[in-house]
Amino acid sequence: ATIHIITPTYSRPVQKAELTRLANTFLHVPNLHWILVEDAQRRTPLVTRLLRETGLNYTHLNVETPKNYKLRGDTRDPRIPRGTMQRNLALRWLRETFNANSSQAGIVYFADDDNSYSLELFEEMRSTRKVSVWPVAFVGGLRYESPKVNAAGKVYGWKTVFDPHRPFAIDMAGFAINLRLILFKPQAYFKLRGVKGGYQESSLLRELVTLNDLEPKAANCTKILVWHTRTEKPVLVNEGKKGFTDPNVEI
Ligand code: UGA
Ligand code: MN
Repeated sequence: ATIHIITPTYSRPVQKAELTRLANTFLHVPNLHWILVEDAQRRTPLVTRLLRETGLNYTHLNVETPKNYKLRGDTRDPRIPRGTMQRNLALRWLRETFNANSSQAGIVYFADDDNSYSLELFEEMRSTRKVSVWPVAFVGGLRYESPKVNAAGKVYGWKTVFDPHRPFAIDMAGFAINLRLILFKPQAYFKLRGVKGGYQESSLLRELVTLNDLEPKAANCTKILVWHTRTEKPVLVNEGKKGFTDPNVEI
């Protein structure tokens, strides 16, 4: 099966560093297709070149999040879903590209550009029949959040402190979906409006599966294979002084 990795991304000083790190990871994964979606009016030369030079199999898309969805108050305000329109565009691209009846085997995974991914994770998700799940480190104010798995290997709830009664109390990095399911449920998208913090993942997953369908991976959700790391914003206070730095040098 091909693993279709959907990554929203936006321009900022660390963007090229993030995408380089991500590409370096993906280059170790066989049969991978990277769908990189820029949150921008047009596809940028920086990202275009970077993708071309990686040698990865990729699709480069773009859609700009309207300003009124963004930057309302704190940029880290959890009520403003980041990357949502970009992930939805990639879902639409998959549905327009692959036929529901074609035997094209595929897995879909949402990989934000700043997280850290172990190579083992991609091998785990490859056998996803409907939706597979696993723990994610550094989310919800915990070392890790995890699905609850019983002795029979069934998911029956969520080991989280923040709102464990959400239908799917799981971070974006904690699940993968079989492409067939995406194609058979063409109306399933992430909700853009009226989604409370932490409910974005549920807004898509509830259209696709029930708790009973979930397939625990990573040794019945006992291993951490993905980390919700966040990159520190670099301090650039000396930029613009005495001709520092050369704006023609891409970073
Ligand atoms: C958490 C979740 O892990 C995200 O999956 C979720 O989208 C986000 O919260 C949310 O609900 O807002 P967090 O680390 O806070 O993630 O978010 P970012 O990593 O800053 O953004 C998630 C993705 O969207 C990244 O790939 C980022 O490059 C992209 N993004 C962010 C945009 O495309 N546009 C933006 O304006 C901001
Ligand atoms: Mn992030």
